[in-house]
Amino acid sequence: MSTDSPAPADTAARSLAHWSEEGRREMEAFYALARLDYELLAKALDWSALLGRMQSDRSLTLLDVACGSGKFPQALTAYAGLEGVRELRYDLLDPSAFSLTEAAAALSAPFAEGTHYESTMEDLAPEEGPWDVVWATHALYALEPAKLDAAVARYLAARAPGGFSFLAQGARGGHYIDVYEAFLEGVRGGEGTPYVASDDLIAAMRDQGAEPEVHRLRYEHVVAAEDTAVLEGFLQRCLFDDTVPLAELLEAPLVGAYLRGCHDTAAGVYRFHHEVDCVVLSDDEGATPWTAAS
Ligand SMILES: C[S@@+](CC[C@H](N)C(=O)[O-])C[C@H]1O[C@@H](n2cnc3c(N)ncnc32)[C@H](O)[C@@H]1O
Repeated sequence: MSTDSPAPADTAARSLAHWSEEGRREMEAFYALARLDYELLAKALDWSALLGRMQSDRSLTLLDVACGSGKFPQALTAYAGLEGVRELRYDLLDPSAFSLTEAAAALSAPFAEGTHYESTMEDLAPEEGPWDVVWATHALYALEPAKLDAAVARYLAARAPGGFSFLAQGARGGHYIDVYEAFLEGVRGGEGTPYVASDDLIAAMRDQGAEPEVHRLRYEHVVAAEDTAVLEGFLQRCLFDDTVPLAELLEAPLVGAYLRGCHDTAAGVYRFHHEVDCVVLSDDEGATPWTAAS
């Protein structure tokens, strides 16, 4: 039984291990559903108007914090109508060399590949930056709690005066945070560090004197119950743990009950409910061009 296996590495180490070539199959199963996360962020505000306005008096620099495999810039290119936006330098930050390479390969106009920082947010050298635009989309779940304040301080300092920063992260009550807590409690005997939620990041920003504008998105991922390959790959990626098969997850304490609660038996699908906060920092209060879609 997998629960008798030696204790796996903690959250931050498992995140780094899974953001690798070995994790590609699981990553692809995950994005069969999670691609929607980035489509909704690309449609949540009028990025074309925002970037166009900022470009009127300068050429922009941008930092993508925890760039992952570049799903956010890809979604922007596909859904945000950026044809009128001038080229901007797109710097990438991630502790995983695999992620830096994947995200760089995903960039297309108007994003021009810039510097790669193989670093965590908290360890980014203080002399780097600042940037006109900083974004961190579904980025900081695996932060170690002891490093949360340092990561948030570095994130705040990365935004140039007059700049715009955008962070999107799951909140408590949404799938990404809740399924992992149920897994740690029910399968790992309460051992392991829970994911950082948007609630934690927003509180740390406020503690450090920032005044973020917060906009909540609510939506579902829906997958056919019989599509067990996608279901298992998605869930294992959510947990950064591919040692517990779907059948065991469904029977396990807490996480099994959670998953049964997501099962819409009448429709033959699982529905994973998401609560995602979009957190904006800007000097232009009230000027964020949220769309009706958000
Ligand atoms: C879900 S991905 C982000 C997806 C990405 N924003 C996109 O658009 O595709 C999470 C990334 O966070 C990175 N990461 C983990 N801990 C980090 C930290 N402390 N600082 C910065 N990045 C981190 C991981 O290596 C991984 O590439």
